[in-house]
Amino acid sequence: MKKTIAGILKLYQENKKISMVTSYDYSTAKAAEEAQVDMILVGDSLGMVMLGYENTINVTLNEMEIFTKAVYRGATQSFIVSDMPFLSCGVCASETLKNAGVLIKAGAQAVKIEGANDKIIEEIKILTDNGILVMGHLGFTPQYINTFGGFKIQGKTYDKTMKMLEDAKKLEEAGVFGVVLEMVPQESASYITKNITIPTIGIGAGSACSGQVLVIDDLLGRYCDFTPKFAKRYANIYETMVLAIKEYNTEVKSENFPCESYCFHLSEEISNKLLYDNK
Ligand code: KIV
Repeated sequence: MKKTIAGILKLYQENKKISMVTSYDYSTAKAAEEAQVDMILVGDSLGMVMLGYENTINVTLNEMEIFTKAVYRGATQSFIVSDMPFLSCGVCASETLKNAGVLIKAGAQAVKIEGANDKIIEEIKILTDNGILVMGHLGFTPQYINTFGGFKIQGKTYDKTMKMLEDAKKLEEAGVFGVVLEMVPQESASYITKNITIPTIGIGAGSACSGQVLVIDDLLGRYCDFTPKFAKRYANIYETMVLAIKEYNTEVKSENFPCESYCFHLSEEISNKLLYDNK
């Protein structure tokens, strides 16, 4: 059965943890759906883990659309959230509405927007008024990496925690159905979670959030440029890939692949004719 926002919010109301994982392609989305995660995020982290960009700033709406369509084809029954890439929102409200529409038409049920400045808050209201579900994202917001000066934990002081809570409340009032808290001390995330009435989804924000999200390539051990402290590896797919490709390479060179069981054959009659032609 297709997962809906009502189902996600029911988990929150019943105090059950919400699971979310990123996916960017058909097969991984299919696996995430089979594993029964509650939500799939087509994160703009795809810029780094799928496209090899240094950060998420260069990700385009067109790229988000392509990957969202692939995820939707693999996970038609899942609740899919797609990231609004850098500057596709927060500049011009009508453009934001149009851009969010592209991702919704690609198969997402909701979009995620980083930050909570006045312009973003105003645009979130417009999106929700137009029937587009929105998720917020506070703490370390990767699209603002240049402003932060690197991958840095956010909300480390009392005042900064209060400011994050204020932003979370503004997002809640604007109509977001949940908010991602990234790289935030556990105590701050816990305080924010207790003081708002929408789910918080943590990534590097401790265990008190209403749910958790991980980048699938970190979880699977497929992206190895660096592993953040908060990212638990549940597999080592990169190593498995290298080993498998090495074995293939060796077998091609030693002529052990393709062996008989991987070959197609002509009928004996045509085969003999070809042999005869070659004499
Ligand atoms: O792009 C992404 O994968 C994200 C998660 C880190 C929450 O925004």
